[in-house]
Amino acid sequence: MLDQSNPFTMLRLVSWVVWKIPSRRPLKMAGFSHTEAGSSLDMMDAAELAPTASLRKKYFRHALDEFRHSRLFHERAIALSRGSHAADVLEDAEYSASHGIRGETSLYERLGETEFLAFVWLHERQGARQFGLYADLMKHDAASSAMFAEICADEEYHVSYSRRELDRIEIQKGPREVRGAIRRLRLRRAREAFLRTSHGFGHVMAGLWLTVIYFGIVAPFSLAGRRSAPAAGLVATPGASARARLEYEVQG
Ligand SMILES: [Fe+2]
Ligand SMILES: [Fe+2]
Repeated sequence: MLDQSNPFTMLRLVSWVVWKIPSRRPLKMAGFSHTEAGSSLDMMDAAELAPTASLRKKYFRHALDEFRHSRLFHERAIALSRGSHAADVLEDAEYSASHGIRGETSLYERLGETEFLAFVWLHERQGARQFGLYADLMKHDAASSAMFAEICADEEYHVSYSRRELDRIEIQKGPREVRGAIRRLRLRRAREAFLRTSHGFGHVMAGLWLTVIYFGIVAPFSLAGRRSAPAAGLVATPGASARARLEYEVQG
């Protein structure tokens, strides 16, 4: 489904900036390849641990979809990579750990059944929205646009099956079980976004202060030091210039 939303939303604006810069595209796709591979492993874990055969089957199919998405992004990143570092990003074995894609404990074990399904529903919904938008923004590159549209269709299936499972849990355990899980996830996501923003802000402020200190204190003192430095000798002592003149006259 192509994105038909308001052309001036923040998501669209940020996405436009990212996808309109040609050199960013392969790198972004290489990053997505890692994210989708991480999702595939999360779904594999869930397929092993789910309590019913029906859920195991759905999680397994979901894992295969995410694995395919990872390969599609990998191939597209290589196809678009002209002098970019996309291959380095794709081969970076530490990428998942350094970007918080996979933890040591499986996501399913950490969250439990309801919260895991709520996580899948929220994230797949966001993924479907983003990929629909990217398919629209990349219309000038038919292969990339078709890939995003294809992935978007899969993500929509993931949204619908996870929502159906949440509806089933609501009937079995009551609406508070599902609403509580969604609320906790949203709070966690907001806290993580705040920490990420604070971290970025901290970096910017540190850079700003270092620049101010350099140009306000270090550079003026360095300049003043150079101007008052003696023409000869290491230290200018009282009467040094008079002695130097005398030595010059004696030598002369
Ligand atoms: Fe995916
Ligand atoms: Fe997905």
